[in-house]
Amino acid sequence: MRVVRLVDELRSVLDEHLTAGLSVGLVPTMGALHAGHLSLVRRARHASDIVVVSVFVNPKQFGEGEDYERYPRDTEGDLELLEGERTDIAFLPSVEHMYPPDATVGVAAGSIGDRFEGADRPGHFDGVCTVVTKLFNIVEPDLAVFGQKDAQQVAVLKRLVNDLDFAIGLDIAPIVREPDGLALSSRNVYLTLEQREQALALSRSLELGRDAFERSGDPREAERAMSEHLQDAGGVEVAYTAAVDPNSFEASQPGGPILLIVAAYVGHTRLIDNLLIVRANGGGD
Ligand code: PAF
Repeated sequence: MRVVRLVDELRSVLDEHLTAGLSVGLVPTMGALHAGHLSLVRRARHASDIVVVSVFVNPKQFGEGEDYERYPRDTEGDLELLEGERTDIAFLPSVEHMYPPDATVGVAAGSIGDRFEGADRPGHFDGVCTVVTKLFNIVEPDLAVFGQKDAQQVAVLKRLVNDLDFAIGLDIAPIVREPDGLALSSRNVYLTLEQREQALALSRSLELGRDAFERSGDPREAERAMSEHLQDAGGVEVAYTAAVDPNSFEASQPGGPILLIVAAYVGHTRLIDNLLIVRANGGGD
């Protein structure tokens, strides 16, 4: 595995592969890699000749008072894991290299980035769109793999690819969960043992929401069940629960697919989770 830190070096390495007609798969990450990330790398490995994984904690997607400074970083551990997944290139740019002081232009996510995560974290999806656009332009992959865990990010990035005419296929990998249901997240390392137990309320609320929807056929009932469970759960402060259309993140349409989404604080840690309901009549994605 080659570790590259500079854009020009990465471009020249990739040029050789492109000339040889090899396909390139990109997995953008912020490091602190866990089994969820590795499942993305495996998908890229399966579908591409050359696998590039970027590890970059992107300051532009963190708001004031968020955890940019203390976000978990483990470069050595990440590189070991990437090597184990037969990654070809690990791209580890510095912040100064990605965002030179004289850079002024960014990419705006638009209205889809203003709801839910975007409402709670203003500018977050603009930061995601800016860094992902840069990575797409630098790597020019055939395929990019993202995780369904960040469902609104997926919806935003589908718009990005569509609206800015990137000729890049998006592959969305399912959420990887612990046996007890907790969705894997780099932020889980912040949780104490007690908080980790409390965090199970998120995945449980999604299951209860799904059950309520299956009983009633009413997305509002699903929202009510999720919200009630989280209000009653100890140590959890709800940010939002909703049943939305997975593509627009607006209210789900009758007969269309439904995505149950939840965000909550457990202690100071903000966690998100989601569950796609595929309707029996084929309305699901
Ligand atoms: O999902 C993430 O880890 C980040 O938002 C991404 C896509 C790597 C952009 O920084």
